[in-house]
Amino acid sequence: MSRPDPSRRLGHTIHALGTVDSTQAVAARLAAAGAPEGTVVTASHQTAGRGRRGRPWLDHEGESLLMSVILRPPVPPGQAPQLSLVGAVAIVDALGTFGGLRAAIRWPNDVMVSERKICGMLPEAATSGPGALGPLILGVGLNVNQPAFPEPLKALATSVRLETGRASDLDEVREAVLAALDRWYARFLAAGVAGLREAWLARSQSIGRRTKAGDGRAGVVIDLGDDGALVVRTESGETLRILAGDVIMEAADAARH
Ligand code: BTN
Repeated sequence: MSRPDPSRRLGHTIHALGTVDSTQAVAARLAAAGAPEGTVVTASHQTAGRGRRGRPWLDHEGESLLMSVILRPPVPPGQAPQLSLVGAVAIVDALGTFGGLRAAIRWPNDVMVSERKICGMLPEAATSGPGALGPLILGVGLNVNQPAFPEPLKALATSVRLETGRASDLDEVREAVLAALDRWYARFLAAGVAGLREAWLARSQSIGRRTKAGDGRAGVVIDLGDDGALVVRTESGETLRILAGDVIMEAADAARH
């Protein structure tokens, strides 16, 4: 395979490992030891893979792209979740170029194909002092070669293989993801979320859908703010800005009332 373009920020150093606890943990250790931005850790299997909100992230050997990328964006800690938006736009593009798939973003961290989750992202940040974001580890778990999912995951998850009917080379998938991530990260560094907003909206499945915020208020998603907040119009006409945390998104057939 060709070497990465030297002008790229991401993927100049790739630690391709076998079984690890979590690529997030390995990358965090490397980052704490001074590994530069763009260092990537991948593994063929994780024994303690983690998802959002402390959930486990399970995999079978060699079926998923399990990847953590060390980023050092010069932004305050509160903006760390914005890196998920960058990742989501990049994953949608990579799935399009690599697998010809039409993927869509489910705010904030999921990428969906055929209404099923194909990829999740986990931005984990360390603070390096008052007001400063330390290294941010962007974790990507992309379902690539799963031939099937057991119940009850079957209705909720899909893989590149299930969608295209063929197995893929994980190194090629990783390269497609890193190339797209490199492009969109550069755009984020130059222009922040504002620089991604149009691309995010064009790739989002959330706009027009009904959603419920953590405090129980329901409404329809109308926009993405320049701070990465989901903008929701409630039934009473109020505008909510949801910055982080889980929202419950209705399925497509219930959408666009
Ligand atoms: C989610 O809950 O949707 C986020 C899942 C993120 C999983 C990836 S797999 C590679 C990296 N290592 C981990 O332990 N988690 C992330």
